[in-house]
Amino acid sequence: MKKAVLCVVGTRPEAIKMAPVILALKHEPWVDVRVLATAQHRHLLDQVLAFFGITPDVDLNIMRPNQTLAELTARLLLALDAVLLQEKPDVVLVQGDTTTVMAVALACFYRGIPVGHIEAGLRTWDMQNPFPEEANRVITSIFARWHFAPTEGSRHNLLKEGISAKDIMVTGNTVIDALLATSARELELGLNLDPSKRLVLVTTHRRENFGEPLHDICRALQYLAHNNPEVQFLFPVHPNPNIRYTVQQWLSAVPNFVLCDPLDYAPFVAAMKRAYLILTDSGGVQEEAPALGKPVLVLRDETERPEAVEQGVVKLVGPHFEAIVQAVQLLLNDEVAYGDMARGGSPYGDGHAAERIVKILRDHFA
Ligand code: UD1
Ligand code: UDP
Repeated sequence: MKKAVLCVVGTRPEAIKMAPVILALKHEPWVDVRVLATAQHRHLLDQVLAFFGITPDVDLNIMRPNQTLAELTARLLLALDAVLLQEKPDVVLVQGDTTTVMAVALACFYRGIPVGHIEAGLRTWDMQNPFPEEANRVITSIFARWHFAPTEGSRHNLLKEGISAKDIMVTGNTVIDALLATSARELELGLNLDPSKRLVLVTTHRRENFGEPLHDICRALQYLAHNNPEVQFLFPVHPNPNIRYTVQQWLSAVPNFVLCDPLDYAPFVAAMKRAYLILTDSGGVQEEAPALGKPVLVLRDETERPEAVEQGVVKLVGPHFEAIVQAVQLLLNDEVAYGDMARGGSPYGDGHAAERIVKILRDHFA
């Protein structure tokens, strides 16, 4: 009898990081792989699924413009419960810390279905940063049966919360599986950038940066672009209206700033490879860029990914004008400081995380 493994994806990063697991499970004769898209993100999710050639078996089409956390959670729970009843999975896999992940963990708990949590154990120990992701992770860990921790540090965090050591497996992060497979391909950035100029790549989307922090980030970027006309800035802007409006207000008229829609995954990997340095509040980009040898300045005061900071290839600058300007200017002007941060080497994985996760499930079920 095959085991029904339901893989759930809601947003862009979940799809990128779940794709290697879905693709690996498809080769397992004992598995009936089912893919459930909550489509908490509509456009960003579709881009990624198309790139990896994954067609969801069930699509909840949950996203609404400018959705609130409460309405999103409420709609997810009801819709998920109906799918669990219909699909009757033997195990459900989730990835990361979005509202989709938290709602799946709770819905599965109500129905007594075991959950495997990929990228388990990331913590800042501050419920407000990142908000609501820290809470989503803690809640998911309470209900998960298998905790696939990307690093020793994340394993340790779970032990501190009283999770049994036998249920935690250090696998590496599947983000590196996806990145290595993608960056080995022929990649086209597809934008008309000036090849003679150094490129600074920027992304931001975090809820805790909405409002004043995002204004400060944009003010710093505008200042840096004016003072460094020989440098080009590329900012694929997240579709969240809270981000879009502010970014356009500050940066659309700056001549050496290229604002564009979110890039598909392959062109975004090409952009990371082409970049001289990267400014971001993204979790995934913090993991990917060091693997490509690119310095990252994180537009947050805290991170749940301390390993690359400790390694010296990622630096926290917060959403603060002075700190952003100083750090970017140093990396643009000082080759030694730049070389120190461009050493690369990823503490997050070796490209075989999905294989390890599948083996753990195989040893249990097959
Ligand atoms: C969500 C996750 C966050 C994750 C991020 C990855 C939650 C609460 N937040 O943040 O943890 O890091 O995704 O990008 O789970 N929108 C579109 N099209 C899209 C996607 C979003 O128009 O394809 C707009 C919609 O107006 C939507 C809004 O963005 O309502 C916010 O989306 P939401 O998923 O609630 O939050 P994100 O900020 O994207
Ligand atoms: N990404 C992408 N296109 C973009 C920006 C990011 O494909 O225009 C990818 C990036 O390579 C990474 C993931 O999206 O794998 C990160 O997603 P995001 O920053 O939205 O979420 P987070 O990782 O912070 O949860």
